[in-house]
Amino acid sequence: MRHFWMLLPLALMACVDRHEPTGREDFQTFCVACHGTSGRGDGEAAARLDRQPADLTGLSARNNGVFPGTRVMAKIWGYTGGHDGTSPMPQFGPLLQGELVPYDGGDGIASPTPVRLVGIAEYLKTLQK
Ligand code: HEC
Repeated sequence: MRHFWMLLPLALMACVDRHEPTGREDFQTFCVACHGTSGRGDGEAAARLDRQPADLTGLSARNNGVFPGTRVMAKIWGYTGGHDGTSPMPQFGPLLQGELVPYDGGDGIASPTPVRLVGIAEYLKTLQK
């Protein structure tokens, strides 16, 4: 039985390891430098950029009240729009790893999407004014 207790920390570590950061945590890690904690585009690095970071609280407002989930994820994904060479937004490799889940970004089609990308999109949705 003693061995069980010796293994417990290992088991716990394995659990912690498998924990996917929440969308909120990922936003804090990858986005606030430019977009600011509020998402309004007032991060501390914003002043040093040639192009001002978008106000992410107005995504829905600028899209006739509908959260543009697919566009947001494409932007983060960096394949469409994000990496046309003109945006200072980097690619976010870790957000694209891990499990794929079906996600409908608002266009009625559920596509297999990296779970952390979905998390960030869902978090951004909660920031909409
Ligand atoms: C290095 C600074 C920087 C970082 C870090 C950054 N962004 Fe951006 N982002 C920008 C800039 C500048 C723009 C405006 C220019 C453009 O659209 O490419 C922008 C635009 C966007 C847009 C487009 C908004 C629209 O109206 O279409 C989205 C969505 C976005 N960012 C999401 C994110 C998310 C989510 C993260 C974190 C995973 C992030 N950004 C990290 C600088 C950054």
